[in-house]
Amino acid sequence: MLQETITRDQALTRWQDYVVPQCWESFTDEDHAVWDLLFARQVELLGSRVVSPFLDGIDLLRLSHPGVPDVEGLNAILEPRTGWRTVAVPGLVPDEIFFAMLSERIFPVGNFIRTRQQLDYLEAPDCFHDMFGHIPMLAHHDFAEMTQQIGRLGVAAIAADEGPRAARLYWHSVEFGLAREHGELKILGAGLASSFGEAHFSLESEEVERLPFSVERAVHTPYRHDAFQPRYLVSQSLEQTIRDILDLTPERLLAL
Ligand SMILES: [Fe+2]
Repeated sequence: MLQETITRDQALTRWQDYVVPQCWESFTDEDHAVWDLLFARQVELLGSRVVSPFLDGIDLLRLSHPGVPDVEGLNAILEPRTGWRTVAVPGLVPDEIFFAMLSERIFPVGNFIRTRQQLDYLEAPDCFHDMFGHIPMLAHHDFAEMTQQIGRLGVAAIAADEGPRAARLYWHSVEFGLAREHGELKILGAGLASSFGEAHFSLESEEVERLPFSVERAVHTPYRHDAFQPRYLVSQSLEQTIRDILDLTPERLLAL
């Protein structure tokens, strides 16, 4: 117990070490043009194939404004609404740092954007994935609460040497989850919402499995981070995912 407390405290004090200035003024005209291109084609591709709070978030956060968003401008809208704040990071952060950030309503966004030559291939998530994919749903009060809960669960799971349980739960909900909305299958996860290739694939391919979402199944279902997912978990609704994860305690996560 003592050791768990120490580990958690260390993680919570270290996440600040990964934060860098966004240096918004360093983005070039070409960078801004790449954002505009990605934004325009993704909004058109998604249409209404994504849960509706995502589209509400895009409007609320004014993500259609041309160019790469600056984190201060986003935070000026996001923080008063749900208490979430974005910070810039230079690339992927370790899981323990990521979950510690989420547990404090901090979302890390890459301080770089892909090139025009790499529109559909990413070695590490860039600011288009992070800002377009993730931030709109963090303007939704209950989803915001749920994401913080995943952070807390992740911190506890890592302290118990069971980090992959929390990583799989996160992956099958926040990143690659699907959910029904008024009976229709919709994209929920940021990895799908921000992907040109996988958005339609996840909804329409006949080659993948789509299994009902439960926290138990999510915790035990492996995933791919280097290819399209071979299976997606489908919630009865966005609200079901939120309820199930908010009801999950660290003790139950570790016992599932
Ligand atoms: Fe992501």
